[in-house]
Order: sequence, then C-alpha cells, then structure tokens
Amino acid sequence: MTERRPFIAGNWKMFKTIREAVETAGALVGHVSDAAGVDIMIAPNFTALAAVREVLQGSAVMLGGQNLHWAPEGAFTGETSAGMLQDAGCRYVIVGHSERRQYFGETDETVNKKIRAALECGLAPILCVGETEKEREAKKTFSVLDKQIQNGLKDLRSADVGPMVIAYEPVWAIGTGKTASREQAQEVHRFLRSLMESIFGNDLASAIRIQYGGSVKPNNIKALMEMPDVDGALVGGASLDAATFSQILHFQS
Ligand code: 13P
Repeated sequence: MTERRPFIAGNWKMFKTIREAVETAGALVGHVSDAAGVDIMIAPNFTALAAVREVLQGSAVMLGGQNLHWAPEGAFTGETSAGMLQDAGCRYVIVGHSERRQYFGETDETVNKKIRAALECGLAPILCVGETEKEREAKKTFSVLDKQIQNGLKDLRSADVGPMVIAYEPVWAIGTGKTASREQAQEVHRFLRSLMESIFGNDLASAIRIQYGGSVKPNNIKALMEMPDVDGALVGGASLDAATFSQILHFQS
C-alpha cells in the first residue's frame, strides 16, 4: 500500500488582521518545530499572506490561499490569480469550499477552471467536496460527491492531478460542532478513493491524500486519523488558535 504522509491544514477563512495573523503564525512555528511526519499548511486571508510568509520562513509550516481566479491576469476586479498566490509564497490553494459554493456562486464548472489554473502554475489545489444535511438525509451523499468530483475534475488526466488533495467537508459539520463520526468519514473517503481510481487509475487513487473537514478538534482528530482512508484534516475554527491547532497537529503524541 502507498504510504500517504498526513496533511493537516488550517483554513483561517475571513479572520485575523495582519498583526493577529503574524502573531498566530509565529506562535504556531514555535509549537511545531517537533511535529515530524505531518505536512502542515495554513491559509490566512490574502492581505496577511506576505507578512505570514516572512514568519514561516525556514519552518515546516507551508502557506496556502483560500481561493483563486482561473485567469493568469486581467481585468477581474477583486480577484487573485494562481501566479499571484505562488508569488506570495503559496504552495497550496483551497478550491470549491462549500462557503464559496453557497455564498459566491462557485460551481463545479468554475471549480474545474480553477483546478486547472492552479495545477498549470504548480500550485497544489485542495478540492473541497461535501453534501448538505438535506442531501445526506435524502441518501444523496454519494451521488452529490460523484457529481462534484466528475465535473470538478472533468477532462483532467492523472498526470496532471498528481499533486492535488481532496478535502471531504460535509456541509452539516462545518462550524456546527457536529463532526461526522469516524465511520461516516471513512465510508465517504473510501468512496472518494474508489471514484478516483475509476477515473484516474489505481496509482493516483492510492497516493492521493483525502482530508476530512468539519468541526475537527483536538479531542476528535486522533480517532479520525486512525481510519485507513483519512489522510489529514482541513481545520477551520480550531486552527485559529496556535495552541489548539498545535494539539491537533500532534495527534500522534
Ligand atoms: P470548522 O473546523 O470550523 O468546522 O470548519 C471546517 C472548514 O470549513 C475548513 O475548511
């Protein structure tokens, strides 16, 4: 079986001034000097990227963006390109977060364009997928995820999507304190991995990392990470505090 390195990322959403972001990132760097064996990323607000990059210099903590536009540049007021994120020091970019789908008109089609733009630029996209509570109750979880993956990754080849990460974020678990049980997470992660296998083949599917996101906390990370297809976490609220996030990153100790 392919060894998949755990990957835990913090999505800071629209929180923190530059000063607050620098303080939290600085504290985090102090906490994680010994967090061996885990890839770590934080995605601060765009305005804080440059300052946080300085703080992360020489540390194991990588930088990510929360969104991007698919064009390399142009008259797109308010938008940020993959190249700009990379220029700001980002290695990853979150694509298709449910908050963007819900509030900002993100569709599987725009997700597809953004994934391509990120990959072309050498940025690794973290593709977020997940069902709403209503969809889960209607037993549509798998069909919703199937559509998000098939359309979001339409016409991409396995050679292109290698660096990509998938984040399974059930919408009903985001910011609600309701975590998916580890069995629910495993069931979906297994489904996503076999879906990736049917599209891109076994090598890609067994190597791709699938994060779980939705009310991940220090008290539930270990149980989630014990599941065979859970390779990491995308953490919102609990990543905003360096000590709390550090506890999550040290789930193995
Ligand atoms: P919470 O951890 O606050 O539930 O947020 C999850 C999330 O949306 C990460 O992208």
